[in-house]
Amino acid sequence: MKLTVLYDMLRWEEKAIIEEAKAIGIEVVPFNIKSGFFDITSQENSYGDVALERATSYYKGLHMSAIVEASGTPVINSREVLEITGNKLFTLLRLKSAGIAVPKTYVSFDPDSAMSAFRALGGKAVIKPVTGSWGRLVGLLEGEYSAKAVIEDRAYMDPIYQIYYLQEYVNRPPRDIRAFVVGNDVIAAIYRYQPEGDWRTNTALGGRAENCVVNEELRETAIKAAEAIGEGIYGVDIMESDDGYLVHEVNGTVEFKHSVSVTGVNIPRKIVEYAIRRAKR
Ligand SMILES: Nc1ncnc2c1ncn2[C@@H]1O[C@H](COP(=O)(O)OP(=O)(O)O)[C@@H](O)[C@H]1O
Ligand SMILES: [Mg+2]
Repeated sequence: MKLTVLYDMLRWEEKAIIEEAKAIGIEVVPFNIKSGFFDITSQENSYGDVALERATSYYKGLHMSAIVEASGTPVINSREVLEITGNKLFTLLRLKSAGIAVPKTYVSFDPDSAMSAFRALGGKAVIKPVTGSWGRLVGLLEGEYSAKAVIEDRAYMDPIYQIYYLQEYVNRPPRDIRAFVVGNDVIAAIYRYQPEGDWRTNTALGGRAENCVVNEELRETAIKAAEAIGEGIYGVDIMESDDGYLVHEVNGTVEFKHSVSVTGVNIPRKIVEYAIRRAKR
């Protein structure tokens, strides 16, 4: 059994995955996707029985995942999964079709229409780039003038930022929930508390992690969200609203450094065990 770990930066997570694979006793190959080039016209396969896609760069990881998959090695997550989870709009459409409760979301393709969407959401809304993570460029719009300024700024950014994705601001406690789904199991969950001076809860922005006991409803919500996308490893972001759980995002590449210590769950071990189950026979 040979496991390839595709990376562009060796973070704590990748190192932990490699260590756990060694501890289990399988062959593990750390593979820096930024070193060297790939002959994508050759049939040769050197990626082993299964690969974990762990690049920090979404686009690089997505394309590398396509290359490895085409060579015959299953990749977690698959190109198809990454294409969906890498885009909040595509993800939300999947969740919606699966009957999962999501925040009210309006999309428009020009600044004036985006302002109309903002007003229709009651003059308080969250604007998000459809691709991106760590809370980056996720903005809280409040008041006509500041909303207009933010929306106007996007007109001078790359085309992807001109997909105006506006969401109702969900009345929630100063935290959200990140549930870790591996295959068909919720292996752990954390509450993420918004840090001093921010309304976003991302740990990358200083959000504090606390263990969250996985109740039946939470388990069902997270599993259903994962199933709406396909087989894989996910970080499902959930808010506690007045009407119950709302899923606002499904992440296809997850960081879990803080979560291991607060939950006591050996997340990298679970990931490796799952990868082995998904290996080509
Ligand atoms: N509709 C919303 N209402 C209230 N808070 C939100 C809403 N959407 C996002 N947030 C907050 O902003 C954070 C980042 O949003 P998210 O959609 O998860 O984007 P990212 O991919 O950058 O993590 C969330 O973890 C949550 O704390
Ligand atoms: Mg998120």
